[in-house]
Amino acid sequence: MHAALTEVAVQIGFVAVLVQRRAVGRLIKGRAQLWHDAPMGHPPDHAPDRAPNLVSAADKTLLIVYHSMTGGAHQMAQAACDGAQGEPGVRVRLRHASDVAPDEVLAADGYIFATPENLAAISGQLKDFFDRCYYPVLDRISGRPYASLICAGSDGSNAARQIARIAMGWRLKPVAEPLIMCTHAQTPEAIAAPKQIDEESLTACRALGEALAAGLVLGVF
Ligand SMILES: Cc1cc2nc3c(=O)[nH]c(=O)nc-3n(C[C@H](O)[C@H](O)[C@H](O)COP(=O)(O)O)c2cc1C
Repeated sequence: MHAALTEVAVQIGFVAVLVQRRAVGRLIKGRAQLWHDAPMGHPPDHAPDRAPNLVSAADKTLLIVYHSMTGGAHQMAQAACDGAQGEPGVRVRLRHASDVAPDEVLAADGYIFATPENLAAISGQLKDFFDRCYYPVLDRISGRPYASLICAGSDGSNAARQIARIAMGWRLKPVAEPLIMCTHAQTPEAIAAPKQIDEESLTACRALGEALAAGLVLGVF
C-alpha cells in the first residue's frame, strides 16, 4: 500500500507540499467540512458545490470524467474524487462521460479520465465524450494537467495509451503515470459480474486525486 501511495506522490513531486496543505486544511476545517456533506448511498453525479459566499477567484475546478460497465472504474473515479475533495480550494466534479459537454471541459482547470479497457481500447462512452468535445475545446485547454485511471481485466495499457494520445492532441500535461487496476476477470461470468476494487487500489486513486487537486491549488503544474 505504501509503495503505491509513494509512487503516485513522488511522480507528481510534492509530497511535502501535500503534508503542508493538510495542515492548512485542518486549520480551516469548518470551511472544508462543507465539501464533505455529500449524501451517502449512490455516488452523486458531481461533488456538492461550495457555498457561494466562500467561492473565491483562486478556486480551481477538477473535472473527473468516467465511464464504467461493471463498477470498477466508477469506484476508482469516486476514490479520486474523495481524495480531491479533501483539498481546500478545489471544486470537484465527478461526471459520467455521457453527460459532459464541451463547456464543462472548458470550465475546468484539470482533469481525470477514468475508463475500463474494453477490446484493447477506452470504453465506447468515454470515446464518445472525446469525440464530442475534442474539436470544440481544441487549443483552448492547452497546458492543463490531467491523469488517467484504467480498470482492466488483465492489461489496460492500450486504453492508457489511447487517452495519452488524445490528451497530447489537446496539449494537456500528464502529471502522473496512468493508474491501471486489474480485476483479473477472464471468463464471461467474471467479466459480467459487478466489480469491487480493493482498498489498496482505492487508496492509490485517492492519493492521485488529492495530489492533483493540491497541485492545482498551488499552481505547480
Ligand atoms: C467487451 C469487453 C472487452 C474487454 N476487453 C478487455 C481488454 O481488452 N483488456 C483487458 O484487460 N480487459 C478487458 N475487459 C475486461 C474489463 O476491462 C474489466 O472487466 C474491467 O473490470 C471493467 O471495468 P468496469 O467495472 O469499470 O466496467 C473487457 C471487458 C468487456 C466487457
